[in-house]
Amino acid sequence: MSKKIKVCFVCLGNICRSPAADGIARVIKKEYSCNFEIDSCGTAGWHIGNSPDLRMIETASNYGYDLSQLRGRQISNMDFEKFDYLVAMDEANYQCLIEMKQANSNAKVSKLLDYSIGGDVPDPYYGGIKGFEQCFELIEEGVKSFFDNLCEKHNT
Ligand code: 4NP
Repeated sequence: MSKKIKVCFVCLGNICRSPAADGIARVIKKEYSCNFEIDSCGTAGWHIGNSPDLRMIETASNYGYDLSQLRGRQISNMDFEKFDYLVAMDEANYQCLIEMKQANSNAKVSKLLDYSIGGDVPDPYYGGIKGFEQCFELIEEGVKSFFDNLCEKHNT
């Protein structure tokens, strides 16, 4: 088996966008020839230990993904040692990661949609369910493009 590529998706609260990316990535990584390890976290600590937002659990479920077992956690300096890729959902999370990153970290910090259409995955937290659906579709496309960029697909 090839070397593990460790990926952590990062948003603000780790209850909406990054758990969606995390849950999608854990499923679709099986279509790729690389050995991915997947996690997610938030830059803020408000939802440590919490399940994802029920609206995102529901939305993901409608698209065939189960996020219910994921739990919120906050980014720490150790994540910059552990992960090869820290993938932010928006510019604010990205800037936070760039500021936290120490000179001795080899983690590559990027934004998810840089691998697809560019720009940010909007924060759906204060909006309606439609926003969660739009957000989910952006994330699903972004995760697929990210994996496509990193790794060959199985030919099966
Ligand atoms: P997330 O969304 O960053 O996609 O998990 C948010 C979740 C919670 C809050 C803000 C954004 N909050 O203010 O608690």
